[in-house]
Amino acid sequence: MLRTKPIKDVIAQSEADGSDGRLGLKRHLRARDLTGFGIGIVIGTGIFTLTGIEARDSAGPGVVVSFAIAGVVALLAALCYAELASSVPTAGSAYTYAYATMGEVVAWIIGWDLLLEFALGAAVVARGWSGYLAELLGLPTAWFGEEGSIVNVGAIGIVLLLGVVAIVGVRESARVTNLLVVVKVAICVFIVAAGLFFVKAANLTPFIPSSQPADAGEDGIKQPVTQALFGLEPSVFGFVGVLSAAAVVFFAYTGFEAVANLGEETRRPKRDLTLGLIGTLLISTVLYIGVSLVLVGMVPYTEIDRGAPIAAAFNAVGAGWAGVLVSIAAVAGLTSVILVDLVAMGRIGFAISRDGLIPPAVARIHPRWGTPYRISGVMTVAVALLAGFLPLSALADLVSIGALCAFVIVSIAVPILRRRRPDLERPFKVPFSPVLPLVSALACLYLMLNLSVETWIRFGVWMALGALIYLGYGYRRNRLARHEPVATEPAGEPTPTP
Ligand code: ALA
Repeated sequence: MLRTKPIKDVIAQSEADGSDGRLGLKRHLRARDLTGFGIGIVIGTGIFTLTGIEARDSAGPGVVVSFAIAGVVALLAALCYAELASSVPTAGSAYTYAYATMGEVVAWIIGWDLLLEFALGAAVVARGWSGYLAELLGLPTAWFGEEGSIVNVGAIGIVLLLGVVAIVGVRESARVTNLLVVVKVAICVFIVAAGLFFVKAANLTPFIPSSQPADAGEDGIKQPVTQALFGLEPSVFGFVGVLSAAAVVFFAYTGFEAVANLGEETRRPKRDLTLGLIGTLLISTVLYIGVSLVLVGMVPYTEIDRGAPIAAAFNAVGAGWAGVLVSIAAVAGLTSVILVDLVAMGRIGFAISRDGLIPPAVARIHPRWGTPYRISGVMTVAVALLAGFLPLSALADLVSIGALCAFVIVSIAVPILRRRRPDLERPFKVPFSPVLPLVSALACLYLMLNLSVETWIRFGVWMALGALIYLGYGYRRNRLARHEPVATEPAGEPTPTP
């Protein structure tokens, strides 16, 4: 279980050229595309919805500080990702780094955990997308929303449609994403610029409302693990409230690591992955701080709308037309989150099946499209079903815990790989290693502990399911266990000659 995959094998696999239908992906992407992908997946439900809920229920105007804290933690993790991704550019990202440094079982845990993050992320956001569309076009919530919903056809439809885009080609996905990202960023800038005219200083004082006891229902399994562990009286607001809001709004930053999954499709991975990762986070952090500051400045935090906070804030100050623009941006913005989630999910599944931890036949690359069409296809259908039938709002926290868990492991992998392979070329190095990677791991762990007991239980159930699959299949059947050479040739039937 502790066997590691040699770095030279990782590099050999990642350098396999996809153009002849072998087990490699096609290299199309540049730094600009990567940043587009990053912003495409990062800016979404987090800023458009969670900001309002957390300001109102947990942090008040201090939610701006929560965004700043979560942004710094995400940036630390991104630095660690950048070092690993630029020295070992591969489709499996964190999963593969763990396989090369900490051993197979940790790699499996992280791979399984990332599948959860991206698949569930796509499903959660698809339901949010469907809801915004219903609001904009006046569609029935029974088919497009959460109220009285039996099956959400809007969510199923958008997942299947974007699933096809993701499979037909990464270049096409990049084009669609870049367009949507331009709309999304432009609207965020617009929110800040237009909103500034309506900010009232009175709404910003007190900036961090003083601590209060939580309502009933916030205790028990709904309270953060930190409060449950130390037997603290459940409370909201105050600095504690700002910290627990930081753990929840961390969701808004999740997804940037998908950039690292595109290592095998990037033309100059050593340089461009670092630019893509850091660029994504810097741009999103600045936009988030701006948008959240304007929101809490426009309306008193006690009156913020929970469903569509930003649009409602513009309505409240008498600028309803701006609210419509914001809703359009939300639909566009969420579309790209789903698309990039689906692309990333396929890449992780591809990397895991290429190593034989799940059946390798599903890792096949389509000879013309150059994408892992089988694994992407199967998983897209699974995500569409999840999105269609499960009310997923409560599961957004699961996406955060999945991401944070991966970031802890990635941060620890940096100093381990430096010790094991000091000779490896590292185009980007995290400054002050091992201190900074360790601070990053601890900060992510701390945010995990600020999530609810309920979220930890659900996460535990998913991980237990993963353990069963690993022990039942992957442990014996994977390539390392069977001493097979690295897979640069496909499993399954022979490749048709083009
Ligand atoms: N970070 C993404 C969002 O906020 C998942 O929607």
